Amino acid sequence: MTASAPGKVNIQLSVGAVRPDGFHPLASVFHAVDLLEEVTVTSGEPGSGIRIDQVTGLQAEEVPRDGTNLVWRAALRLAQELGRPGPDVSISIHKGVPVAGGMAGGSADCAAALVALNELWEAGLERDDLARVALDLGSDVPFSLMGGTALGLGRGERLSPLMVRGTFHWVFATATRGLSTPAVYAAFDRLVAGRVVPEPTADAAVGSALIAGDPVALGRVLHNDLQAPALVLRPRLADVLDAGISAGALGALVSGSGPTVAFLVPDPVVSAGVAAALAGHEDVRACYAATGPAPGARVVARSR
Ligand code: C5P
Repeated sequence: MTASAPGKVNIQLSVGAVRPDGFHPLASVFHAVDLLEEVTVTSGEPGSGIRIDQVTGLQAEEVPRDGTNLVWRAALRLAQELGRPGPDVSISIHKGVPVAGGMAGGSADCAAALVALNELWEAGLERDDLARVALDLGSDVPFSLMGGTALGLGRGERLSPLMVRGTFHWVFATATRGLSTPAVYAAFDRLVAGRVVPEPTADAAVGSALIAGDPVALGRVLHNDLQAPALVLRPRLADVLDAGISAGALGALVSGSGPTVAFLVPDPVVSAGVAAALAGHEDVRACYAATGPAPGARVVARSR
C-alpha cells in the first residue's frame, strides 16, 4: 500500500510567547505544495517487527532507518491506537521534500504512513481519528494529512481550510545544512525576551490574497516570525532572500523554521530565472519549482 503526502510552506507564521508545555501558540497559514513524500507499507512475517527497508529520492542518505525515524513512531503509535500487537511491517520511503528544511518532510512521511497503514490494516479510522494520532507525532502532521491551504491555530492542529483561487508558483532554495526546529524556537524566545508578545492572529490580507488568487498581493504579505531567529542562526540566508527578489520573485520568506527559503513567483518562466540566479550561490544546495495548493495524504497505489 502506497500513500503520498505533500511538503508545505507557511505563507503566514505568527508565533506567540512560549506556553507552559514548551510549545508556542501559532497563527499559521499552511500551504501544501506538490513536492511529495511517498511511503509504501507491506505486511511482514509474524514477529518480524518494524523494518525500514529502503529510503530513496532527495537526500535519502540523511534519513535514519531506525526507531528515530518518524515513520517508525507512526507505525508504533497507530498500532497502539488500534490495540494491534506487533506490528510487523516493512516500510519504504521515497523522498521529494528536502530534509530538515522547514518544509515538514518528516511530517509528510508520518501522514502518508498513517493513511497507508490505516488501509493495509483495514482499520477504518476516520480522518478526525487519524488527525488526533497525527498530533502525537508532531505539530505539522495533522496539516500533512489535510493538505490544501489551511489556517492552523494552537500548536497548528486547530485547522480550518482556506479558500484559494487558482494555483501559486513557488521556488524553494534548500541550504547546505539543516536547522533544528527547537533551536529556532529557542532563538525566537531569546529575541522576544523581556517584551510583551501579542497573541498570534490570522492576517486578513493573506486570506484576501488567497481568495482573489492574486500572487502580487500575496507576495507583499508573506510573513514568518521564525525568519528573524533563523537569520540570527544563519545570517547569510538574508543574501539568498535578496538574490531571489532581484531575480523577479514577488515575495520571499524562510519556510517554517528554515533554512529552506521560499520564493513566490508569477509563473514558471520566473521560476526558472530565480533558480538560475541562485544556482551558483554558495549557501544554496539546490532549487525546486513547485505549485500549491496540493492535496493531503492519500493512497496512490495498492497491490496484492
Ligand atoms: O511538534 P514538533 O515535533 O514538530 O515540534 C518540534 C519542536 O518545535 C518542539 O519540541 C518545540 O520545541 C518546537 N515547537 C514549538 N511550538 C510549536 C511547534 C513546535 O515550540 N507550535
